[in-house]
Amino acid sequence: MNAGHTNAGSPKKRHARSASVDHSRGPARSTGELPWGRSYLMVEPNHFRVDYAINPFMHLDDQPDPVRARAQWLAVVAAIEAAGGRVEVLPQLPDAPDMVYAMNLGLAIDDESPQVVLSHMRYPQRRVETPAADEWFAGHGFSRRSVGRDGVGAHFEAGDAFAWRGELVLGYGPRTEELALKHLAVDLGVGVRGFRITHPGMYHMDLSFCPLDETRAMVCPAAYDDASAAALLALVPDPLVLTEEEALTFCANSVVLGRTVVMPACPDRVRVQLERWGFEVVIVEVGEFLKGGGAIRCLTNPLDVRRGRDLAPVAGGSVVLA
Ligand code: ARG
Repeated sequence: MNAGHTNAGSPKKRHARSASVDHSRGPARSTGELPWGRSYLMVEPNHFRVDYAINPFMHLDDQPDPVRARAQWLAVVAAIEAAGGRVEVLPQLPDAPDMVYAMNLGLAIDDESPQVVLSHMRYPQRRVETPAADEWFAGHGFSRRSVGRDGVGAHFEAGDAFAWRGELVLGYGPRTEELALKHLAVDLGVGVRGFRITHPGMYHMDLSFCPLDETRAMVCPAAYDDASAAALLALVPDPLVLTEEEALTFCANSVVLGRTVVMPACPDRVRVQLERWGFEVVIVEVGEFLKGGGAIRCLTNPLDVRRGRDLAPVAGGSVVLA
């Protein structure tokens, strides 16, 4: 962990590793590990609270315990580092209680000249996070752009965006607006595929979709309208299809480092399939962060998505909506 300041303490290993991985039961391992997902920005939970309710999981009378939250957050850091990943740490602003969900700060793209598309949050309560993200990315050599700012222009929240199989896969509806997809495609010069999210409890795409490697992904069709669910299933060569009940454990809100999947929860059926495919499941309990409506993917923002390798350049950009 590359802590920006000193009170983070040393991460303790609190996660339980799965005891065994049976490679004999399923098809041979795919060689196509996800190329990105080994370097993350996280926001230290110094001021994590539930001050307002902008998703169905947030309740003002169910506040996170700060001591438990810090221990869980440190366990996420430790699990990422144990799997060979790196974590950069940004301090939390006192008036930004949701800033711990670093995934939503922006979409970072590493390139010869790295850039980030800063989020333009749907809810004004979260827009106070953007100047801090802007400053952090500026200080780390990223040029910054946005598709909207301060309530003007399209909303975009980076928890809706994934680089996968050369394209930018985006969920839109509850948070990101359809218009943002066009801006992202044109501004970045990439191919964008949009899927309409309709489930109120799966308001970011990272709650219902998790790329595992170059051909496999967890997908919960119940999060999308019928056309988008069908199109997303068609996009994924080997889907691990989640029921609504399974997805609401937040099992898709996981990060993948090579063959290791760091998960907040893993229903048995999902674990069996992941292990059959040769993945190691590492569970880190993040119950305090579920009170704000987020888990492990939400707490982490990948810094190593690379243009060219992970996103194919498309002159003028292109958008396909389901
Ligand atoms: N309370 C936060 C919000 O509603 C939770 C964000 C979860 N983040 C995510 N990437 N899904 O915005």
